[in-house]
Amino acid sequence: MIKIEAIVREDKLEDIKDALGAIDVNGITVSQVMGCGAQKGYTELVRGQEVLVTLLPKIKFEIVVSSEEWEQKTIDAIQKAAFTGNPGDGKIFSYDLRSVLRIRTQERDYDALN
Ligand SMILES: Nc1ncnc2c1ncn2[C@@H]1O[C@H](COP(=O)(O)OP(=O)(O)OP(=O)(O)O)[C@@H](O)[C@H]1O
Ligand SMILES: [Mg+2]
Repeated sequence: MIKIEAIVREDKLEDIKDALGAIDVNGITVSQVMGCGAQKGYTELVRGQEVLVTLLPKIKFEIVVSSEEWEQKTIDAIQKAAFTGNPGDGKIFSYDLRSVLRIRTQERDYDALN
């Protein structure tokens, strides 16, 4: 099992949600977060305005998938939907996940994901 975490522009929320829906991803968690990347001391476009990059509002997607094939599909979909080509488009992280438990059924790991 693999966890994918993507930190993206706020205004890409709907596009990314739609892109993940189109590939039938089963579960997603979305949060509003604050962050900064490499551009400290520079400006970045936020909702069409130039804003000094200290901590900027971003959206974080968290998705757990069952295989490397799904990892790649999910990352590709997010990258395509999140891309503008400007600084601040975001980053996608992925890592191995130890366990999943579906509380209702007590199913674990792969069974809990499908
Ligand atoms: N190394 C990191 N660790 C944790 N979060 C990060 C890291 N890099 C970026 N982020 C998160 O991703 C958000 C977007 O990062 P951003 O796209 O600005 O990365 P970048 O490395 O500066 O690339 P770019 O040059 O395209 O702007 C940041 O606001 C922060 O929340
Ligand atoms: Mg940046």
